[in-house]
Amino acid sequence: MKIITVTGYKGGVGKSTTAVHLASYFSDHGKTALVDGDPNRTAIAWAERGPGFPFITVDQRQAMKAVAGLDFLIIDTPARPDSDDLKELALGCDLLVLPTAPDVLSLTPMLETARVLGEARYRALLTVVPPRPSREAENMQQALRDGEIPVFETMIRRTIGYPKAALAGTPIRDLPDVRMREAWEDYARLGDEIREILK
Ligand SMILES: Nc1ncnc2c1ncn2[C@@H]1O[C@H](COP(=O)(O)OP(=O)(O)OP(=O)(O)O)[C@@H](O)[C@H]1O
Ligand SMILES: [Mg+2]
Repeated sequence: MKIITVTGYKGGVGKSTTAVHLASYFSDHGKTALVDGDPNRTAIAWAERGPGFPFITVDQRQAMKAVAGLDFLIIDTPARPDSDDLKELALGCDLLVLPTAPDVLSLTPMLETARVLGEARYRALLTVVPPRPSREAENMQQALRDGEIPVFETMIRRTIGYPKAALAGTPIRDLPDVRMREAWEDYARLGDEIREILK
C-alpha cells in the first residue's frame, strides 16, 4: 500500500481539494481510501453532500478498519501542524504533498517546511494558480527551486469548479459542466507525476 499525505502550514490552500482529487485519481488505479484527518471533516462532509465518491472516505479514528487490502491511502490533514507534526507525518507516508498558493507570503512558510523535513520524500504543489497573463505561479515555482525545495511540475489552476464540486459532493470530473470538467486534467497530471515518483 502507498500512503500519500496532504498537509502544510497554511490554511485554505487546497489541501482537502487536493486530497479528494488525488483519491479520485488513484481509485482508477487500485483500491483507495481517503482518511479525513481534519476535525472539521471537510472531506467527509463533501462526500455526504453528493452521490458518493468512488473510494471510501473515513474519519481518522476509523482509519485502521479501512486500510485492509488497500492499494492507496490518501490522508487529508488540518492546517498548520507544528514542525514535529510534519516530521511525524512525513515518516508515516510514502509521499508528503504540500499545497501552496502562489503568493510571496507563502514562500517563507514553505522554506521553513523544507528546513524541517530535510531529506523526507515530499513535494510542494502550486494550487489556486491564477490564469495568464499572471506569472505568479511560475515565479513561485522558480523561487522554490532556487530554495532547493522539490516542487511538482504540475500546477493546479484556479477555477470556480472546485467550490462547485465541493457543494455538489462530487470530484470536479463528475460535474455536469464540461468546461469545469476540463480542470480535472490538472489533477490527472499530478496523479501521473506521483505514480512516477512512487515507482
Ligand atoms: N484550484 C482551485 N481553484 C479555485 N478554488 C479552489 C481551488 N482549490 C481549492 N479551492 C477552494 O478554496 C477553498 C479552500 O480549499 P480547501 O478546503 O481544499 O483548502 P484547505 O487547505 O483544505 O483548507 P483548510 O486549511 O481549512 O483545511 C475551498 O472553497 C475550495 O473550493
Ligand atoms: Mg482542509
